[in-house]
Amino acid sequence: MPLIDRLATIYRQTFGDFPAHIVRAPGRVNLLGEHVDYNDGFVLPAAIDRATYIAFSPTNASHSTLLAVDFDQRASFSPASVRTKTQADSSPLPDWSLYPAGVMWALMEAGLSVPSMNAVFASDVPRGAGLSSSASVEMAFLLAWQTLGGWTLPPMQRALLGQKAENQYVGVNCGIMDQFASACGVEDRLLLLDCRSLEWKTIPLPKDVSIVIADTSVRRKLTSGEYNQRRAACEAAVRLLQQDLPHIQALRDISVEEFNRLAGKLPPEVRRRARHVVEEIERTRQAEALLEAGNIREFGRLMNECHVSLRDLYEVSCPELNAMVDIAQSLEGCYGARFTGAGFGGCTVNLVASEKAHEFSQALAERYEAETSLHPEIYISHASSGAALLK
Ligand code: GLA
Repeated sequence: MPLIDRLATIYRQTFGDFPAHIVRAPGRVNLLGEHVDYNDGFVLPAAIDRATYIAFSPTNASHSTLLAVDFDQRASFSPASVRTKTQADSSPLPDWSLYPAGVMWALMEAGLSVPSMNAVFASDVPRGAGLSSSASVEMAFLLAWQTLGGWTLPPMQRALLGQKAENQYVGVNCGIMDQFASACGVEDRLLLLDCRSLEWKTIPLPKDVSIVIADTSVRRKLTSGEYNQRRAACEAAVRLLQQDLPHIQALRDISVEEFNRLAGKLPPEVRRRARHVVEEIERTRQAEALLEAGNIREFGRLMNECHVSLRDLYEVSCPELNAMVDIAQSLEGCYGARFTGAGFGGCTVNLVASEKAHEFSQALAERYEAETSLHPEIYISHASSGAALLK
């Protein structure tokens, strides 16, 4: 049964009626610009055809009640209880509910009303796989409360509130990329975002090129700690470089040449992290012209370089991601392959000649399984539209 119909059925079994509304918010895949959004850089994601769906109705109860189908668990919280991360009965909020509760909190902080709802939700974005399942949950709940709350925010403002929920409520110091892509996705287009000005445009991908997502089936562990450490290293680099370049505010403001001149002043680990960011931002600056000229070969080469840099300088890859990328790059029709998202496990993204995409996917799965004894999931993805009210 399609996910939406299943949710409507479960909603009815749980709350005794059909849901008034259904929203959808997609996950994302990022093609280039990894770990640069929180350095004011440029990113090039696309929303994907996997999403979180919520079936919901308003209720007169004092609290919202959510059933997470993927966890087979419920949580109830009110505007008062979210402030202490507790449920209506004073028990702690389960981990999965921190995302919707964080969204409620961020909306309240913005002075927006958050009427109580009964909701059933589920996602076909794999969790912890680098495809932004959490941002898709946040963007879906933002839209759900917008539907009931009598206010309307532009998609970018919703993205910023989702990021605030994740930074200040969940405690992951993420950038804006994931929530942006989920909120602003456009069918069949890549999104090029300037994470400083928040200006963005869309770029078409040539018809004869496919985005293939390959899930290593390895899941990230302890990522929020590692993630926050990487961000702290970038901030340390900016502070040290400001001694020579007082005008810089972020690693975005330093060219590769300037960085090479001053890199010796940074301690080795901070230097590696900052070098990745400075060079990755330079790669993303080249991307737009390459894509517009249809130079997929050269763009793919930048993706390959990005993977090496994430592996060796930013040190956020893992053996399974490296194996998946190495195999992909050796296969016919592959323009570029790298891991996508925060790292430490999850998925790779591959740009592949469409006529070879099926063969490529099959060979990649077989060889990865032979090498690692792990069973990967590989699918040809499609750039989709952003979060929307379906009913
Ligand atoms: C996670 C974060 C994003 C971004 C990526 C790495 O997905 O949520 O903001 O930093 O990692 O590029």
